[in-house]
Amino acid sequence: MYSKDEQRHLYELSKKLLHSPDPVDTATAIATATDLRQVIVYHEWRYYALNDPVISDYEYDMLYKKLQAIEARFPALVTPDSPTQRVSSDLTEEFATVEHLTPMLSLDNSYDAEDLRDFDERIKNYLGLPLDLDIEYCVEPKFDGGTIALVYENDQLVRAATRGNGAMGDEITPNIRTLRSVPLRAGFSEMGIVKAELRGEAIIRKDVFEKLNEARAADDLTLFANPRNAATGGLRTKDPSETASRRIEAFVYQLGFAVDSNGNNKLEAFQTHDSTIDYLGKLGFKVPLHHPQEGERRVCKNITEVTAFCKTWQDKRESYAYEIDGMVVKVNDLQLQQRTGSTAHHPRWAIAFKFKAKQATSKLLHVEFQVGKVGSITPVAKLEPVQLAGVTVSSVSLHNEDFIRNKDIRLGDRVLVERAGDVIPYIVKPMEELRDGSEREVVFPSHCPVCHSELVRAEDEAAWRCENPDCEAQLLQRMIHHVSKNAMNIDGFGESQIERFYRLGWLRNIADIYRLDYEKIAQLEGFGEKSAANLHKSIEKAKQNPIHRLLHSLSIHHLGIKASKILAAEIGNVMELKDWDEERFTNIKDIGPVLTHNVIRFFQNEKNVELLREMEALGVNLTQTEDDRPKAVSADAPLAGKTILFTGTLSKMGRKEAQAKAEAAGAKNISAVSGNLDYLVVGEDAGSKLKKAQALGTVTILTEDEFLALVGG
Ligand code: IVH
Repeated sequence: MYSKDEQRHLYELSKKLLHSPDPVDTATAIATATDLRQVIVYHEWRYYALNDPVISDYEYDMLYKKLQAIEARFPALVTPDSPTQRVSSDLTEEFATVEHLTPMLSLDNSYDAEDLRDFDERIKNYLGLPLDLDIEYCVEPKFDGGTIALVYENDQLVRAATRGNGAMGDEITPNIRTLRSVPLRAGFSEMGIVKAELRGEAIIRKDVFEKLNEARAADDLTLFANPRNAATGGLRTKDPSETASRRIEAFVYQLGFAVDSNGNNKLEAFQTHDSTIDYLGKLGFKVPLHHPQEGERRVCKNITEVTAFCKTWQDKRESYAYEIDGMVVKVNDLQLQQRTGSTAHHPRWAIAFKFKAKQATSKLLHVEFQVGKVGSITPVAKLEPVQLAGVTVSSVSLHNEDFIRNKDIRLGDRVLVERAGDVIPYIVKPMEELRDGSEREVVFPSHCPVCHSELVRAEDEAAWRCENPDCEAQLLQRMIHHVSKNAMNIDGFGESQIERFYRLGWLRNIADIYRLDYEKIAQLEGFGEKSAANLHKSIEKAKQNPIHRLLHSLSIHHLGIKASKILAAEIGNVMELKDWDEERFTNIKDIGPVLTHNVIRFFQNEKNVELLREMEALGVNLTQTEDDRPKAVSADAPLAGKTILFTGTLSKMGRKEAQAKAEAAGAKNISAVSGNLDYLVVGEDAGSKLKKAQALGTVTILTEDEFLALVGG
């Protein structure tokens, strides 16, 4: 971007400007402002793009202030691409949605050397190339931040957007303008490019992130979970100065679109992906760099070299300044990319190599035993707090006694904890080689830690259970379950409110939920008239729920959503179940003897029957509704008789919502890819299921949009 001579000149000019007097006449002001802008842009590039400043922060600030002072005195001299114009004071009201110049696809994933070889072979097969031919790849880190698209017109940054759904994104130009690593002006026109779209990732350095959180802790603000959240959140704020304060940087990794004044494609002027990135680097963008030894970017002559390069990065990932979750492997030759093309979801010429889940070791301090809604005892490991993939982990489920015994986990052990993506952390194994003999066996309690009744373990169950239906811990958990989303779905009523009302003595059982005194609630700190009224409204609404929700809300062991729906379809009123014998239950398809036993036992307990009567008297619906009756699916429903499976992250609807839509359209949701599967709907980052379905060749693969079009919603 800058020659050695230019750099020397800009350096000397900076030193001179630092000591120059403030201009008093317009002519000198114009000249000085022009010089200052030039040197400031240079220093920002050294600092933000190269991480290698040549002047001190203090000197930079002095130059910046000088420019601000001149512009304040001669406002007519302010130019839109002046470095001082990054933070605009006008607040953006709402984000406008904008269409990307070309769709922003996602990437297919690979996890090991074999996956990479498969990827390489797929390309050769697709293009009809000999398998022993070497394809050249360009490999870069997969930055773990927020995706952005930058549009430059006539060398000016005119628009910046989030990835959004790939076709449309949110316009966040004022926020992106505050990122010092994004040039407001870049010399595309020198090559005849009048319009260009660049893709990249907004990301916060790990050490900057630590400082941000320290400052937030000092201000008593909630901490950011990880650098990615801090970055993506920062891009979406309505206040650009807030974006600026997070010190977000942007790596650019793709020139997605470039045309000249006649609309001719200028991407054809480049031979390789690698050379486009070099070009963008020269224009002043922050790009993954070539370094003599292990750079961020490397051109590998074949897939074997790619694998080795990915492995070295996996090892040094922790010490790298930014969070990365893998490497991106791209066919280097742009013509070859073109010929290889893309599916609806991702380019065939690129793949993400995902790193193994993050692991850390910590000490197992003690084990807590928690009592669940049906009395199951869950051992929970309390660990010395440890940072794992951006979150602090101090509590990890040990599931059950067998888990502890099979892994031989002992108190005082150093344990290896793993967290893959957003998955709940879990203990991989104890580090036996670090034991010093002081470790002790985890002793499972023989009695309930809360009500002290004896624990029992059924032969075919993994959990020890407290069988006392009046156990305080169970009562509380049952109420929490009762109001939860999958059960009665009482909006605005969650664990913390239940616990609070319980402590106040207002709640002893689930019927009490329908007896709450809203005047008293309104007087609680943090509540007020409005929230109390809202809670009242949600509870009134829940009273009218279909009975399958009520059945599921009763915390009968094994009576899940599915079984609740099946039972609800068979009865006119919940109370009928009281008189059912075993056969009546087991005659129903999909209702087994264990569940039968549990439901019968529930209704044999007078207290439970009484509870239901009370609830009925309080207005809770006990009779079958339209919603409970099985919906007759007409033979001409769009997916009548078909099986369907959803995989990957859906962006337009939740997984459950999608499954409900499919069901309503006559399809049956199944859980695995097999010859029985008719449709696989793939969201983002679909993995092995998609691969398997593709390999089978009999499954119809749909995008979310195609699915929605099919079911007509
Ligand atoms: S290339 C058409 N290169 O990974 C291919 N993506 O699923 C476009 N990402 O959210 C992607 N670092 O923002 C590419 N060096 C890199 C990347 C990268 C991070 C992100 C990208 C997107 C996701 C792809």
